[in-house]
Formats: sequence, C-alpha cells, structure tokens
Amino acid sequence: MDFSSILLKWYQANARDLPWRNTTNPYYIWVSEVILQQTRVVQGISYYYRFIERFPTIQSLADADIDDVMKVWQGLGYYTRARNLKAGAIQVLEQYDGRLPTTCKELLKIKGLGAYSAAAIASFAFGEAVPAVDGNVYRILSRIFGIFTPIDSISGKKEFFALANELISRSEPGRFNQALIDFGALQCTPKSPRCPECPFADYCYAFQNNLIAALPVKGKK
Ligand code: ADE
Repeated sequence: MDFSSILLKWYQANARDLPWRNTTNPYYIWVSEVILQQTRVVQGISYYYRFIERFPTIQSLADADIDDVMKVWQGLGYYTRARNLKAGAIQVLEQYDGRLPTTCKELLKIKGLGAYSAAAIASFAFGEAVPAVDGNVYRILSRIFGIFTPIDSISGKKEFFALANELISRSEPGRFNQALIDFGALQCTPKSPRCPECPFADYCYAFQNNLIAALPVKGKK
C-alpha cells in the first residue's frame, strides 16, 4: 500500500480551502499555526486575517505595543500565545536577522513553538520532510495500521512519530502534513468516521476488524 499516494490523491479531491494555505509567507504560516494550537479552524480564520492585517510583518509585530497585540487576540483565549508570538518576533529580529529559521530544529528554539508547530511551519513554508504529529495523526495511523500502543505514552509518541516519518512524502511533505490534517477532520473523524467511502478501507486494520471505536488507545500502559 502506497500510503502517501493514496492520501495525496484523497487530498487533491477533498482539501479545504484555508487562507494560510494560499500563502508561502513563513510569517503568515507561523501566525496561523500559533492560532491553531488551541483554536478551531472555523474560529481561527477571522483572527488570522485580522492579525496579519494589523501586523503584516515580523518587524511590525516586534515593534507593536503589547496591548495592541492583546487587543487583536481578544476573545481567542490562551493569551500566552499572543505574548509568545510577539516575543518570538523580537527573537527572530535579534537572533535570526529578521527571518524565521527554515528548519524544524531551529524553529523549535522560537518562543511559543513546540514540536507540532515547528514541523508544520518547516514543512509548509520550507518544504522540510518532517511529520507534524498530533491527535489526528495518532488516530489515523493507529486505525489504519492497527497500532495499540497508548498514544499518551512516551513509547507511543516515538512509535507514531517514527511511522509518520517513514510515510511522509519526500517530494511534497507540506501537502502530506496538510492532507493528514484534513483527513482527520473530514474523513477519519473521532466519532462516526466515513469508512465506507474511505480510500484506505481495504487496508485499514480497524475497519477490517471492526475496531474503529477501540482505536486509538488512550491511557498509559
Ligand atoms: N491545525 C494545525 N495546523 C493546521 C493547519 N495548517 N490547517 C488546519 N488545521 C490546523
């Protein structure tokens, strides 16, 4: 089974048109990933537009009054994100000559970015082949490949990351990661996944064995 080809073909037909996908500006992608850390797509869209309109560049965000940044963030919650984003902009100016670093490893050093966000930005903006692994990915891979390792265990995290790292498209890693996001949101959903119309149905361990509700496994050991 060619996982990546099947996924990318599905994405070709089903991708959501989201504003941060129509840009290659790393700063915009950074802003979108920080918003999406703790905000749903539907709510995030209007905040994304307002934020990049009000602070169109890293420099403008670094120079901004923190109160103005908080005002734009008002209503989104998790306000540490907004503080970190501004601090990150200053950090990029001071340490990276005003340009966001281009590798996942370096992006992890930017304030407010964790493993998922750093991988997302590195793959979307710079084409680095690093998997962005979140709950969606755990769910999709555990079901298709029949992985029963708890997703909240250290060994589970390692196992899922290693598998995603094997599966990721080397030629289109950003599209691959975006495709997993949409596949988890639209197809392989937590409840009532659309298995009869799933391109992986023939290969999916969970579907074939009637274990969709049992996967992924949560709860350590
Ligand atoms: N969640 C995290 N990153 C996302 C993205 N780029 N698009 C949609 N949902 C996301």
